[in-house]
Amino acid sequence: MATNTLTITDNRTGKQYEVPIKDGCIRTADLRQIKTDEADFGLMGYDPAFLNTANCRSAITYIDGDKGILEYRGYPIEQLAEKSTYLEVAYLLLNGELPTPKELEDFTYMITHHTFVHENIKAFMDGFRYDAHPMSMLASTVAALSSFYPDAKNTKDEATRRIQMMRLIAKMPTIAAFSYRHSMGLPYVYPDNDLSYVGNFLAMIRRIGTRTYSPDPVLERALDVLFILHADHEQNCSTTATRLVGSSQVDPYSAVTSGITALYGPLHGGANEAVLRMLREIGHVSKVPEFVKAVKSGDSDKRLMGFGHRVYKSYDPRAKVIKAEADKVFEVTGKNPLLDIALELERIALQDDYFVKRKLYPNVDFYSGLIYEAMGFPAEMFPVLFAIPRTVGWVSQWEEMVLDNEQKIARPRQVFVGSQRRDYPTR
Ligand code: CMC
Repeated sequence: MATNTLTITDNRTGKQYEVPIKDGCIRTADLRQIKTDEADFGLMGYDPAFLNTANCRSAITYIDGDKGILEYRGYPIEQLAEKSTYLEVAYLLLNGELPTPKELEDFTYMITHHTFVHENIKAFMDGFRYDAHPMSMLASTVAALSSFYPDAKNTKDEATRRIQMMRLIAKMPTIAAFSYRHSMGLPYVYPDNDLSYVGNFLAMIRRIGTRTYSPDPVLERALDVLFILHADHEQNCSTTATRLVGSSQVDPYSAVTSGITALYGPLHGGANEAVLRMLREIGHVSKVPEFVKAVKSGDSDKRLMGFGHRVYKSYDPRAKVIKAEADKVFEVTGKNPLLDIALELERIALQDDYFVKRKLYPNVDFYSGLIYEAMGFPAEMFPVLFAIPRTVGWVSQWEEMVLDNEQKIARPRQVFVGSQRRDYPTR
């Protein structure tokens, strides 16, 4: 008998089946042959929230959650954060290899020269209420982009596909900055092609009445590092949303919009905003034990935001890099007063049985909000600051899905638990 197979005995019928194992997986479709009789639909897998189901084969990002390893195309995240830049990492994620200096120059030129948006986008954004959440504006405006590029639906054509991917990466900081300016009642600032990807974004956020604003190099580098850390994270909720929506062969603007809206939720990219609100609610270091007690009691539905992860069952490697980056930022901006509360929360949680037993460690969102706040961003902008760099992850994964011959329109099964057929009553 082959060793790379799984033998299943169906105790309902006594029959045995042998299904192949490849890459540590069986194909759930192979279970369909397991039937009680000919009329039986066949066995399915039941896996709400995809706890143990691989939805694709991917060559982009590798995570070992137990060991706390994160690699983009084989390169450890710690090395990329130390030695690379966001645009170089973006090229790597998109193309599988680090660029040569010439390739990076061409890529940078390409991204820089697609940062402008159609003037109608400005008018479109003016339509939002003054207090609209910037993440909601970002999602709606990216969805609207699909109406500006109708050829984007031609997803099978490589050149068409690639230009939309470049546009998305290039325009995301512009739309993000416009969302911020709209919510602050400030005039929109056009992109500046002389600045770096991150420097240009900061200029569009900060410039008022001058063209000479130049970002602090320490803060510019810190944000670049944060962008590297957020660039991709394999099959998370927003990436899966992008892949699933994209599987209907809709254009990438529409698919990425679903990624943005998934990221908006407090259990995903909205967590950094939620962390800040939590730290403010705690208010003082002395109140930390009381807060931890409330979380553990489970009475209040409270969670320790910025803690825990579906895949990391050890310290999130991104959180380690961010913690070190925070010190550099605070040297420029002054310490965020909430840092002491965060450190105390981490200290107490890491020795508490409840968190230790459940392997709950700080994740990427625990410290990122403190940095963003110290840089002067309001909490509503935090998920937007996650969406900008994650765009390259979404489009890389979307393209991988488009090119994967095994993929079809995503269409899960269900276990029906409703009423049996019944007749409409005669009244
Ligand atoms: N605080 C308190 N208890 C928690 C937390 C938390 N942050 N996270 C998980 N638990 C408990 C949970 O109640 C459960 O306990 P029990 O076994 O007694 O029922 C156990 O730990 C397992 O949790 P789970 O809900 O089954 O874990 P999950 O894999 O479904 O959820 C998570 C992962 C990230 C949604 C969750 O840990 C969470 O809600 N964390 C807070 C939100 C957060 O920080 N999200 C950002 C994630 S990192 C950025 C990103 O990639 O989006």
